[in-house]
Amino acid sequence: MKLKRWLASVLCFTVTILSCTSGAFVGVNIGTDVSNLPSAADVVAMLKAHQITHVRLYDANTHMLQALANSGIQVIVGVTNEELLRIGESPSVAAAWVNKNVVAYVPSTNITAIAVGSEVLTQIPNVAPVLVPAMNYIHRALVASNLNFRIKVSTPQSMEVIPRPFPPSTAAFNSSMNSTIYQLLQFLKNTNSSYMLNAYPYYGYTKGDGIFPIEYALFQPLPSVKQIVDPNTLLHYNSMFDAMVDATYYSIDAFHFSNIPVIVTETGWPSFGGSNEPDATLENAETYNNNLIRRVLNGSGPPSQPQIAINTYIYELFNEDRRNGPISEKNWGILNANGSAVYPLSLSGSSQIAGNSSAVFCVAKDGVDSDKLQVGLSWACGQGQANCAAIQPGRPCYLPNNVKSHASYAYNDYYQKMRATGGTCDFDGTATTTTVDPSYGSCRYTGSSNSNATGGSFPPLSLGPESAAGGSWGLQVSMLQYLISSVIFCIGVVMA
Ligand SMILES: *[C@@H]1O[C@H](CO)[C@@H](O)[C@H](O)[C@H]1NC(C)=O
Ligand SMILES: *[C@@H]1O[C@H](CO)[C@@H](O)[C@H](O)[C@H]1NC(C)=O
Ligand SMILES: *[C@@H]1O[C@H](CO)[C@@H](O)[C@H](O)[C@H]1NC(C)=O
Ligand SMILES: *[C@@H]1O[C@H](CO)[C@@H](O)[C@H](O)[C@H]1NC(C)=O
Ligand SMILES: *[C@@H]1O[C@H](CO)[C@@H](O)[C@H](O)[C@H]1NC(C)=O
Ligand SMILES: *[C@@H]1O[C@H](CO)[C@@H](O)[C@H](O)[C@H]1NC(C)=O
Ligand SMILES: *[C@@H]1O[C@H](CO)[C@@H](O)[C@H](O)[C@H]1NC(C)=O
Ligand SMILES: *[C@@H]1O[C@H](CO)[C@@H](O)[C@H](O)[C@H]1NC(C)=O
Repeated sequence: MKLKRWLASVLCFTVTILSCTSGAFVGVNIGTDVSNLPSAADVVAMLKAHQITHVRLYDANTHMLQALANSGIQVIVGVTNEELLRIGESPSVAAAWVNKNVVAYVPSTNITAIAVGSEVLTQIPNVAPVLVPAMNYIHRALVASNLNFRIKVSTPQSMEVIPRPFPPSTAAFNSSMNSTIYQLLQFLKNTNSSYMLNAYPYYGYTKGDGIFPIEYALFQPLPSVKQIVDPNTLLHYNSMFDAMVDATYYSIDAFHFSNIPVIVTETGWPSFGGSNEPDATLENAETYNNNLIRRVLNGSGPPSQPQIAINTYIYELFNEDRRNGPISEKNWGILNANGSAVYPLSLSGSSQIAGNSSAVFCVAKDGVDSDKLQVGLSWACGQGQANCAAIQPGRPCYLPNNVKSHASYAYNDYYQKMRATGGTCDFDGTATTTTVDPSYGSCRYTGSSNSNATGGSFPPLSLGPESAAGGSWGLQVSMLQYLISSVIFCIGVVMA
């Protein structure tokens, strides 16, 4: 009885925390112009290992959609630009597309949106007249299958539809696209959908002829003499990314539409380029994407819409070595085809991503007070549900019999099991990650390549909201839960 009440309290508390952190997300685009593309099952295993919860496909590949079934990952599927014309000319072609590529997979595969075409207004402007009709036909097919509340229809646009994005307050869509844009916004408004924006500060910066400092493109602090302020609104823009999103909000506003959220369906930075692409470097890509993740997961919107989080999909999962164009075009990926990270990508603090496909372990820090380690150890083996059998007397990891060694074993077991669901390596600041396998003799750490334990083969790439506040948050929550449940437990005891 008491236990039930205690469990209920813990559950309620957990639910509160999850709902208040489940705001913004960062997802990933999956382009497939890759030689040695891993199998769909392997791609999904990589997504899960990296805690990626949202993906966008450029098509509706059957192997990917099958592999994504029951993965908990939310999926945007795409109507390709090649398919668009026929769909825009025929409701029955649209219905057949929806049946074959969407209805066949939901609900096991959590398809949450259909992106109709890709940058249609700027890439294939001659097809623009059928864009909104195509979206309407697709939407009607969803209505017929009663899926329209679950699955939204939109269409990603390039920033180029807004010729002069700065200052954001005076930005406007290219007036020669007026009539299509108007129909599009009307459609998005009527169906409660989002405006999908492909926003690339990389191009804004490289094509800007030195107007903007690179720090502005990379989310780095600007010197006070270089602050970027919209002269009409006096709003400060800390990043070009924010300014691009705001330029889009102001452009929508100029058509007198409100409450159409903007989601960023593509953004990123190439990690390598040709000799004429000096800004496509590993360092800039690492800086951009790490800062982007931090920026998005802080949950605030752009200056003009601070309450609307900027949900974002990074371009892209893999380096697409078979793409045409400049060398940079092949180097936007965050992973190599074998699953190793192209560069370290982390949220901050202790949830490190190794630039390496070796396992990441969680161990007690050097020089930490042993009382604090004892608290962490007790928590890990109790509330944290780590398997602490191996550190009991007579077992392989009992010796050396000291709290630091035992805490390391327990912390790591907890971390390997729980990080996929948001558990972090922090333990009130007493833990740290390492890529050095701490196993010794017959004491095998969970996640070691010599053990049976799972979860060690990919570095964590935490894009989920659970990790929003960096490494310590998950644990702070867990520790707090522990403290609160202890208090509740104590109250229970006092009352009994
Ligand atoms: C699918 O995604 C939606 C968010 O759009 C979420 O509310 C729902 O729980 C997900 N369903 C499954 C089965 O994961
Ligand atoms: C607006 O779009 C038209 C055609 O779609 C294009 O020719 C023109 O250059 C664009 N204007 C600007 C200012 O980009
Ligand atoms: C549409 O285009 C015309 C010029 O062709 C322009 O005057 C007008 O402001 C544009 N925008 C809207 C929202 O109609
Ligand atoms: C859009 O949202 C409004 C209010 O939240 C709701 O009444 C309406 O049914 C929704 N429409 C669609 C097509 O989802
Ligand atoms: C989130 O990021 C924005 C843009 O950089 C910044 O203005 C804001 O203060 C941040 N909010 C928090 C809570 O850190
Ligand atoms: C994975 O691929 C990258 C790039 O091709 C290569 O540098 C790295 O050595 C590979 N790692 C493994 C473990 O095979
Ligand atoms: C990858 O990990 C191994 C140890 O597991 C280490 O020796 C190597 O230097 C690491 N490589 C990189 C690029 O960090
Ligand atoms: C895996 O686990 C089994 C039993 O649980 C054990 O017999 C076996 O030795 C383990 N293998 C390794 C490599 O640890």
